[in-house]
Amino acid sequence: MVLRKREGTVNQEQALGSAYSVPSMLSAILVQLLFKIRIPGRAAFTINSIYMKILPRDTVQNGENLTLQCIVDVSTTSRVKPKHSLLFYKDDVLFYNVSSIENTESYVIPQARVYDAGIYKCSVILNNKQKTTAESQVLVKGVPRPRVTLDKKETIEGGTVTVNCSVPEERAPIHFTIEKHDLDTKGFRQKREKTSQKQNFVTLEFTVEEQDRLLSFHCQASIVSGNRVETSESSRSELVTVTESFSMPKFNVSPQGKITEGEQLRIVCTIQVRHLAQFPEIIIQKDKVIVAHSNHGSEAVYSVMAMMEHNGNYTCKVEASRISKVTSIMVNITELFSKPKLESPTIRLDKGGSLDLWCSIPGAPTANFTIQKGHTVVSQSQNFTKIASKWDSGTYTCTAGIGKVVKKSNTVQIAVCEMLSKPKIFRDSKSEVIKGQAIEVSCQSSDGTSPIFYQLFKANNVLKSHNMSSNEPAVFKDNPTKDVEYYCIVDNCHSHTKMVSEVLRVKVIAPVEEVKLSILLTEVVETGKPIVLRCSVNNASGPITYTFYREKEGKPFYQVISNETQAIWHESQASKEQEGQYYCTASNRANLAKKVPQSNALTVRVFLSPWKKGLIAVVIIGVIIALLILGARCYFLKKAKAKQNPVAMPRLGAPLLNSNNEKMLSDPNTEANRHYGYSEDVGNHAMKPINENKEPLTSDVEYTEVEVTSPEPHQGLGTKGTETVYSEIRKADPDFVENRYSRTEGSLDGT
Ligand SMILES: *[C@@H]1O[C@H](CO)[C@@H](O)[C@H](O)[C@H]1NC(C)=O
Ligand SMILES: *[C@@H]1O[C@H](CO)[C@@H](O)[C@H](O)[C@H]1NC(C)=O
Ligand SMILES: *[C@@H]1O[C@H](CO)[C@@H](O)[C@H](O)[C@H]1NC(C)=O
Ligand SMILES: *[C@@H]1O[C@H](CO)[C@@H](O)[C@H](O)[C@H]1NC(C)=O
Ligand SMILES: *[C@@H]1O[C@H](CO)[C@@H](O)[C@H](O)[C@H]1NC(C)=O
Ligand SMILES: *[C@@H]1O[C@H](CO)[C@@H](O)[C@H](O)[C@H]1NC(C)=O
Ligand SMILES: *[C@@H]1O[C@H](CO)[C@@H](O)[C@H](O)[C@H]1NC(C)=O
Ligand SMILES: *[C@@H]1O[C@H](CO)[C@@H](O)[C@H](O)[C@H]1NC(C)=O
Repeated sequence: MVLRKREGTVNQEQALGSAYSVPSMLSAILVQLLFKIRIPGRAAFTINSIYMKILPRDTVQNGENLTLQCIVDVSTTSRVKPKHSLLFYKDDVLFYNVSSIENTESYVIPQARVYDAGIYKCSVILNNKQKTTAESQVLVKGVPRPRVTLDKKETIEGGTVTVNCSVPEERAPIHFTIEKHDLDTKGFRQKREKTSQKQNFVTLEFTVEEQDRLLSFHCQASIVSGNRVETSESSRSELVTVTESFSMPKFNVSPQGKITEGEQLRIVCTIQVRHLAQFPEIIIQKDKVIVAHSNHGSEAVYSVMAMMEHNGNYTCKVEASRISKVTSIMVNITELFSKPKLESPTIRLDKGGSLDLWCSIPGAPTANFTIQKGHTVVSQSQNFTKIASKWDSGTYTCTAGIGKVVKKSNTVQIAVCEMLSKPKIFRDSKSEVIKGQAIEVSCQSSDGTSPIFYQLFKANNVLKSHNMSSNEPAVFKDNPTKDVEYYCIVDNCHSHTKMVSEVLRVKVIAPVEEVKLSILLTEVVETGKPIVLRCSVNNASGPITYTFYREKEGKPFYQVISNETQAIWHESQASKEQEGQYYCTASNRANLAKKVPQSNALTVRVFLSPWKKGLIAVVIIGVIIALLILGARCYFLKKAKAKQNPVAMPRLGAPLLNSNNEKMLSDPNTEANRHYGYSEDVGNHAMKPINENKEPLTSDVEYTEVEVTSPEPHQGLGTKGTETVYSEIRKADPDFVENRYSRTEGSLDGT
């Protein structure tokens, strides 16, 4: 068995090789010859087996000696033992190579460490033949106890201690856990962990806190080995003695024992400063509020006249860089008398009513009372009574004092209500309202306490409500479509019932929108017979101006102002000049700004009555005959002058004329027709007029006055009752028509 140190691995063959390279080729050949002589012939070699043995076992404690043995069994025909190479691997990395003729080669690891753990194997090489062992896992259990060193043995509060924890035997990475322990409090006060990746030690700085007295540091090291973590035992450092920089703050409350309201309360917080260059800051706090503080000195003082609100938990905090020490104390103050109570039988009263305020303390001790309104004192006594005016509204409090102790009561909100004045109702403008226009109706109670509640009524129904915070008018918008009456009702805090305004009447004018012209009787009128035109409008308000036009004439021929929704124009005796197209316009005040609406156009035709035509024809024929006679006479006169017989001529003319006249009159129809036929040829169209032509003779139109009770009164007019309407009735008697029409005409004029 050959023992070798890991560090001093010496390769024999390598040493041999280097011996070859130095001498000349000659000596090399010589040596080879010598070697051949030593092993004559071709000997046979075979590797029977190879295995690895780990001593003392494959799992060792940290620090134990570990031996890896590689054992080979070789068979040979040679007398001499063959030389073979043995190769040792850890985790597939070659770490030891030896040439030997021995069956067993060992590799010793003195004091095995965690980093020695791994998978080992070995190989044998003999004349190009190679065999390898199975893999053997080696485990190293445990980590050596770390070493802890400190940079100092004494320190003060707020100082630092540097701790060095190391495991010199092992290799990084190592995970260190260091705990700060206080011997007095018995338990760790701080724990820090750090993994060192490169070195086998860590240095950590620890702060010395308040209340640290005698410190020690405990260190533990952990190393990962394969899939396991090996942890050392904990090692303890030397002790560090901590000296206090300043003492815990201490409270001193005076007077001692029971503290009553009105006494001088004095809260003092003191400290003793030891190893500090300057005084730390001392702060006295009550519920987060700093009530006293001191920057230079060993105490802070809070002095105040004791009151109930000074009851509570006081904290004294002393701070110097990293050190902060806190003490707290409960201060209990006894009440001298309870908070006064201000009362009033009512907080809402009418102007002129009695305002009563009463201030009292439970238990009724003798005290000085004042009652204030806002910041003004209104009474130096316990009671306050007066007749309320509107200026008395406001916030009242009272104070009660016994000796130096003065206490303020609750607040009482008093509202004095002034009665509202009768509301005025008015409209934005005096002008009339055109249907569809929006109007503003205002309602105002100029006197009385606000807020004021306004309700606008329209035709006895609530239209809208407004709450006004001042005496300014409440403005309501509306869009009336017909004449309407408004009034408003106001109310406020006053006990009086609601006030009602006057009634505001608003007249709404409906503008003329549609105008319609119609012909009553007939549109084809015989001369001398009446023409009747009606101009009617929608539900517009009166007075309405109706204007009738005949086209081609620029000027109107008839204008009338009426409260009715229609106007009639009639011509009792139509003449040929009145033939033509007619239209009318109608407007009222609401139409002033707009274009005046115009009606449809209608045509009225006028023809001559048959007897007139006949008369004309007779006249014309008469004239022709007269001319003929005249011509004939002249002719005969010339002849008579020539033959001298002029007397017979006049007598010849008269019978001729008579016979002609008689002939005409005996057949007026024929003549009329003929005349008509002539008219037709000249200007008129269609055959229809033939029948109509006959109508005035065979039948005629009668107007009957019909009284109609309107279902609705005319808007804006207020006229109710009868309305004159024309209805057509065909009658044979033309004279009767005339009479009837006269009556209607009279009726029309009357309106
Ligand atoms: C072992 O060492 C010898 C001589 O030092 C060398 O020739 C050989 O290559 C080495 N074997 C391996 C596997 O490194
Ligand atoms: C380990 O080996 C060393 C020599 O390398 C020896 O001195 C020591 O006694 C051995 N330890 C054990 C426990 O065998
Ligand atoms: C910590 O201690 C180890 C040995 O115990 C030493 O090698 C190392 O230098 C020390 N580190 C420091 C920062 O002092
Ligand atoms: C007073 O206040 C401190 C800090 O808020 C608190 O720690 C302490 O418990 C309190 N003391 C009492 C008696 O409530
Ligand atoms: C204060 O003292 C009164 C008696 O004097 C006691 O009833 C009360 O509980 C005390 N309050 C506190 C917070 O200590
Ligand atoms: C104050 O008023 C209350 C109740 O109105 C009455 O009982 C009391 O006697 C009055 N006190 C004085 C001092 O007037
Ligand atoms: C009330 O005020 C007067 C004058 O300031 C004072 O003399 C008296 O002691 C006071 N009474 C009480 C009970 O505080
Ligand atoms: C129209 O009616 C008003 C009153 O509604 C009246 O004053 C006026 O005289 C009437 N006009 C006509 C032309 O009848």
